[in-house]
Amino acid sequence: MATKIIKGKEIAFHLREELKKKVSDLKTKKGIIPGLVTILVGDDPASKIYVRSKKKACEEIGIYSEICQLDAKTGEGELLERIRRFNNNPKIHGILVQLPLPKHIRTEKMIEAISPKKDVDGFHPLNMGKLLLKKTMAEILRSEIFIPCTPYGIMELLNFCGTPIKGAEAVIVGRSNIVGKPLAILLLAENATVTICHSQTKNLAEITKKADILVSAVGKPEVITAKMVKEGAVVIDVGMNRLEVGLVGDVKFDSVAKKARAITPVPGGVGPMTISMLLVNTVKAAKWSAGL
Ligand code: GUN
Repeated sequence: MATKIIKGKEIAFHLREELKKKVSDLKTKKGIIPGLVTILVGDDPASKIYVRSKKKACEEIGIYSEICQLDAKTGEGELLERIRRFNNNPKIHGILVQLPLPKHIRTEKMIEAISPKKDVDGFHPLNMGKLLLKKTMAEILRSEIFIPCTPYGIMELLNFCGTPIKGAEAVIVGRSNIVGKPLAILLLAENATVTICHSQTKNLAEITKKADILVSAVGKPEVITAKMVKEGAVVIDVGMNRLEVGLVGDVKFDSVAKKARAITPVPGGVGPMTISMLLVNTVKAAKWSAGL
């Protein structure tokens, strides 16, 4: 069977077209314009690119968007004050603090300061905790919980390409709060058997070889090689490693593609989906804030 390249970019743009209509209806029928602020502290080049892409995507579908650019030396007090003001700004429905933050700022403390009702990243402990406590994906989607954008996008990609999740062996490489941990919760809610691997995992290849669904989110170029992948697996590459040759994923694409049933490319796979799910969450935030 030929390997299917999962065209995240196309799926992401299809989603944005649907959202554009929803945003337009919200405006004409309810007088609501969803608004997102992205707070960027410092001038990390990769973060700058992500923040700009998010703003452009918002504008393309009619979401109001602001970038709050702060100096790298900004202190915790100043950032907390900015967050407080956005929490109280009715034009803003979603607040995203771009990570990573400079080392002198405690990330956890900043995330906890964001109103859970505006936490479109889904990183606030209240959203994370609620996500953890739900039993099924249907329950999660019915409730007012923000699902972290990258894991949310991965679930959409898996559904879009008809991947069976119930009873599947899902292996996630990487245990970050942004991707690995919340993705494990979502896959579990869809009844997969989930394993999370990390830097201290022994015999990584033995575990990854069992995966029907293999997700890599470690940020190390081409660490997932063909011999670590089961024939017919669905492989999702979250890696965005900026090398001289360009953007490279965690997965050695050409050789792994030969074994996989389906695989996401880098770029053009998970990345555009993350942005689309941020737009979805911002529209949800605006609707929920109006009691819709
Ligand atoms: N940095 C890398 N990915 C993300 C994300 O999904 N949200 C935020 N806020 N920062 C990030």
